[in-house]
Amino acid sequence: MDIIPLPETLTHLPGIFRLDADTAVHPAPDEAAVAALRSLLGPATGFRLPSRAAKTNVIRLRTVPGLESLGPEGYRLAVTPEAVTLEAPAPAGLFHAVQTLRQLLPPAIESRAPVAGVEWTLPCVEITDRPRFPWRGFMLDEGRHFHGRETVLQLLDLMALLKLNIFHWHLTEDQGWRVEIKKYPRLTEVGARRPGTKPGMFAREHDGVPRGGFYTQDEIRAIVAYAAARHITVVPEIDLPGHTTAALAAYPELSCTGGPFAVATGFGIFPDILCAGKATTLTFLQDVLTEVLDLFPSPWIHIGGDEAPKTRWKACPACQERIRAEGLKDEHALQVWLTNRVAAWLAGRGRKLVGWNQILGADLHPEAVVQYWVGGHKDLLKAIRQDHRPVVMSTYLDTYLDHGYRLMPLRRAYRYEPLPAGLDPAAAACILGPEYPLWSEWLPSRARLDYQAWPRLAALAEVGWTQAGRKDYRDFRRRLEPLLERLERHGVRYAPRGDWDPPFWKRLFGVFTIAIPQRKIAP
Ligand code: ACM
Ligand code: ZN
Repeated sequence: MDIIPLPETLTHLPGIFRLDADTAVHPAPDEAAVAALRSLLGPATGFRLPSRAAKTNVIRLRTVPGLESLGPEGYRLAVTPEAVTLEAPAPAGLFHAVQTLRQLLPPAIESRAPVAGVEWTLPCVEITDRPRFPWRGFMLDEGRHFHGRETVLQLLDLMALLKLNIFHWHLTEDQGWRVEIKKYPRLTEVGARRPGTKPGMFAREHDGVPRGGFYTQDEIRAIVAYAAARHITVVPEIDLPGHTTAALAAYPELSCTGGPFAVATGFGIFPDILCAGKATTLTFLQDVLTEVLDLFPSPWIHIGGDEAPKTRWKACPACQERIRAEGLKDEHALQVWLTNRVAAWLAGRGRKLVGWNQILGADLHPEAVVQYWVGGHKDLLKAIRQDHRPVVMSTYLDTYLDHGYRLMPLRRAYRYEPLPAGLDPAAAACILGPEYPLWSEWLPSRARLDYQAWPRLAALAEVGWTQAGRKDYRDFRRRLEPLLERLERHGVRYAPRGDWDPPFWKRLFGVFTIAIPQRKIAP
């Protein structure tokens, strides 16, 4: 039984259940879970799985309020030779139970066309399962390189397989704005396209190959619904005030200097950011976020907040006037002020702001969630201990999927412990869970995306779901083999085994994989 993530308890019993053309699904009120079951098991087996009350050769799905102690995502799964029974207190748990059932079947179940000659049997088991953390996130940066709908839908499918439940969608960057905003059409008319891409961190010229792409609002709604059907929340990120060159190329009046600007063709941290002094910027943010809230029902809205140099704010009369008028200490306090305005505006609409840990500062809005990535560890611990600040953990050297395997071997991705040491239980409860980001500076192709993401996303699944004491890297590596076979069925080009855990001498130079594009993967 090679389930990833490893369930909380699993008991192997003698016998098997055989799925065949007569297997029925007991009529269940949870139509969505039944539909998920049919769409996952139907194509490869060719079985219809009709609804019929039956005592044997039946799959039962039940929402059982009495199981509430399992939490909103927990479930029970029992396989006997006569029946498969999936029970959960809530729909998300029932959906996760279906994913476990999927992993108990042979990997060929992943095929989207009938597979001949496979015995569709399940080992008899009893499983009781629930996640360690409520936030098990994967972030995709589509600002630097746009990958498009097909890729995103497949990632959502594979996230569901691994019980990952947060898709953090980084949609705006210096190099591209990827979400249609009706009130500001130039964001995508101008901001979604660039004339080329610099092939390395230190390259002077771009490659002259135009790149672009964005999602219409209808496309976004369809993707969000697709995720919701898989119990995945899409958390959009509109990065502000930094990483906004593409927006400034479209609307230079939102900057401190007035521009002009061009969508960035190279990567790094750019000095021109949204002006925090001008009323037009505040109106712009409110207008954009109004449309964003309309598209994304997520309780959390990410506003970035990372890497916002204060060079322009220091020289800008409007920003300096704002600092004076609001009695702020300095430019960092101005960023906290801007963040807090957005946080309060979101709170008034029932949403919570999420930002990278650079938003931390005195008087940060109490409801703001911090996503930790780098630096400021002391401030983070203080915010957790003193303010019980909710935190998502994405420690730079342990979780960044854009790093090469020489810097972040699979073992390291697996061993990541999201709970900082030494927190008391109340403080530990502030850690919502891990998230692994995939930044896309050096991610021009689907092949490269697959290589960076897989199999490290499987490690994330277990870091987020499985109790720390049950994690075991060797056992994980064993269970990974059938998962890879599943990924192959989906055409995923995961990193070859020899790359996962490089020897020490290769890891010595791993740090260069941060800034040097990795060219060896053919698109
Ligand atoms: C980040 O990696 N700039 C959050
Ligand atoms: Zn300004």
